This record gives sequence, C-alpha cells and structure tokens, in this order.
Amino acid sequence: MSAVLVPVLRQPAAVEIFDPRHYAGVRKPLAEATTLPPWAYTSEEFYRREVETIWMREWNFFGRADRIPNPGDYFTVDFVGVPIIVIRGKGGEVRAFSNSCRHRGAAMLRGDGNCNAIRCPYHSWAYDYEGKLIVAPEMEQTKDFRMEDFPLIPLKLEQWAGFIFINLDENAGPLKDYLVDLPEVLSSYRFENMVCVRRKEYTLESNWKIYVENAMEAYHVPTVHRSTLSRQKGVFPTVEPSNGQWMALHKEHEGTRALLTGDTGFPRIPTLEGKAARGSYYPLIFPSTMFGSTTDCMWWLELQPLSASRTKLIVGSCFPKEVTERPDFEEVVQRYYKRWDISIPEDNEISALQQIGLASPFSKPGRLSYAEPLVHVFNNWVLDRVLGPQERRT
Ligand code: FES
Ligand SMILES: [Fe+2]
Repeated sequence: MSAVLVPVLRQPAAVEIFDPRHYAGVRKPLAEATTLPPWAYTSEEFYRREVETIWMREWNFFGRADRIPNPGDYFTVDFVGVPIIVIRGKGGEVRAFSNSCRHRGAAMLRGDGNCNAIRCPYHSWAYDYEGKLIVAPEMEQTKDFRMEDFPLIPLKLEQWAGFIFINLDENAGPLKDYLVDLPEVLSSYRFENMVCVRRKEYTLESNWKIYVENAMEAYHVPTVHRSTLSRQKGVFPTVEPSNGQWMALHKEHEGTRALLTGDTGFPRIPTLEGKAARGSYYPLIFPSTMFGSTTDCMWWLELQPLSASRTKLIVGSCFPKEVTERPDFEEVVQRYYKRWDISIPEDNEISALQQIGLASPFSKPGRLSYAEPLVHVFNNWVLDRVLGPQERRT
C-alpha cells in the first residue's frame, strides 16, 4: 500500500480562531499588511460570528422598491437564517416583517407576488399589510386571546433614493447615520429617478468576502477581463474619502463603463456634476453592496451569504426613467446586458477558483499590492466587527 500524505492542518483549533494574534498582519499598514487567514473564508464558525456581528447588526441592502410598485406587492428573502417579507401597503409605504406566523411559526409567503392579505398556509391566520392579525379561525374558546397581541414582528426598513435597506437589530440607528455623506456624493446620478430594468441572480461558489474584495480592486482587470473590460493602462482608480459606512473607488474616463469597447449606447445622465461627470464611482456600502455608477446608468451587486463558501449574487441594472421610455430602449439595452453577462461570470469564476485554493490546508496569508488598498480597508472593517475594534495604523 502506498503511503498517504496527510496534509498539515493550518487552521488552529476552533477555540483559537478569534485570537487577535492571528490577525496582527492584517492590522498593519497596507505596505506591510498580510491578507486574512484562509479560514476566514472557509470556516463555518468564522461565518457564524460574521452573521452575529455584521449581518444581524448593520444596514443590509435589498434592491429597489420599484420591484414592488403596487399595494399588496411583496417579495420574500431568507437572509442569514432570517425569513423576511417586504410588502407595499395601501398608502404606498414599504414595510418588512419577520416571515413567521404568530400562531405556530410557519413561514407564510414565498417568492414574490401580490396578495390581499398575508395568509398563513397552515391554519389560515391572516395579517394585513401593516402586519395586524385580522383573521384567526377557531380561536374563540382560547382564554384571554386578543388578536391585537399577535401582529407580525416588524423589521426596521428604510429607503434611500428608491433603494431598500433593512436592519435586523432593533436598536440600530437610522440609515442616514450609516450612509452619512454617500447620498450627497452620488446625488447627481439622481438614482431616485432611475428604474430597475433587470434583476439577475447567481449562486457563487465562494465566500462573500472574496467577491467584495474582487469588486473593490482593479488589479485583476487586465488579467481576468483581459479580452473584455481591460482598457486600463496601469492607472488604477483613486480611493475616495468617506465619512459613512461605505468606501469607493473613482475612475476617470471618457464615455461609459457599462458597454464593451466599440458599442454605443444611451446619452449621458444630464445632471451629472463634478467627479461623477468625469468618470465612474464604484462604492461599496458595507457590508457587501457594490454599485457601478457610470455616466449613463448604474448597476448594483447585492450579496446574500448562504454559508462560509456559498453566496447569492443579485445584479440589478438601472437607467434613468426617460431612457427606459425610448422606443429603442429594449434594442439598445441588450448591449449593456451583453457587457454584464460577460464580465460578471468572469468575476464569479475567478472567485470560485480563489475559494478552492483557500480551502487547501496548505493555504497561508499572502501580501497585498498598492493597487488593492480597499481590500485592506475592507478586511479591517470585517475584523473590527468579528474581533471588536482595535488600534491600528492605516
Ligand atoms: S402556523 Fe400559521 S396559522 Fe398556524
Ligand atoms: Fe472584475
């Protein structure tokens, strides 16, 4: 029998993976810093700590409110173990509820659609759009049962410019204190005047952080997108100052970044000002929402982690309302879809390869280039939550 080579396990015992000493290299300034330990991308225990300290605490992004334009329109999402209903009420307000019946807990709505009431498929308890229990059959013999004591559990939902954010922490501060200066920096895009024309879902075979890191550096573009997006000549985007829970790259360029070279598309957004008029902004709204804001449209990358090694990606595409009303819209927009449908799978595939490599017991932390500053900032943002804030030099 041939000898079997047993790999040396590099991950320390489970009880030790949150020891700050393992992350000292990540805390150093960029030029001296290491990447996160491989187990930060593969360990279910690390992932569960992220759920507790990040996803259950921060404002999370859930796409556009124009997905549910009419009263009774809803969509549901199972987000890090929390089933959620997002529904539009009679007055146009959008609300979020825990998707769990107050009788014996069944999830009530699935997918998306329109309903007259939120009716539980188990014993037909029903709730109105405001979460009030309005039907509870056969409950008259139940002592001291009062309908008003059993509304759906509301979740904090706020909007900015038509984008929906939900916070699962009932003590969270308002969204404006989270975004701070982001709405002002991006105001000339007039996102509130945009319409989402396509929403596409992918399942990524990678940890959510791998995908965020990919989106926040242009170092990979000449390699991964060499035959599609690579128009850079060694000039990397600049890092934008931020006061809120976001960070951004800005790239100066002519034309749009949402088309492949040689294709022509829609006119520029007429209201663009300042740096928005001179190129594209690529903000990351922590923890995991990326915008591509370019001169004629915007697209978002929304991540919903499924486990340590799998993530749902939703890509939404938005154009100014007047553009979507053009008679040639459907024909011209196909050129934009072509660009996204080529570049996004390229990023998805390289992320899956990184996951495979990081899962090796021989994988070790690496080093970063000057062209990856936001990977370093993002890694430290994650550690500030998973381990707790710590002094570091930037
Ligand atoms: S669990 Fe919903 S009505 Fe019984
Ligand atoms: Fe990319």
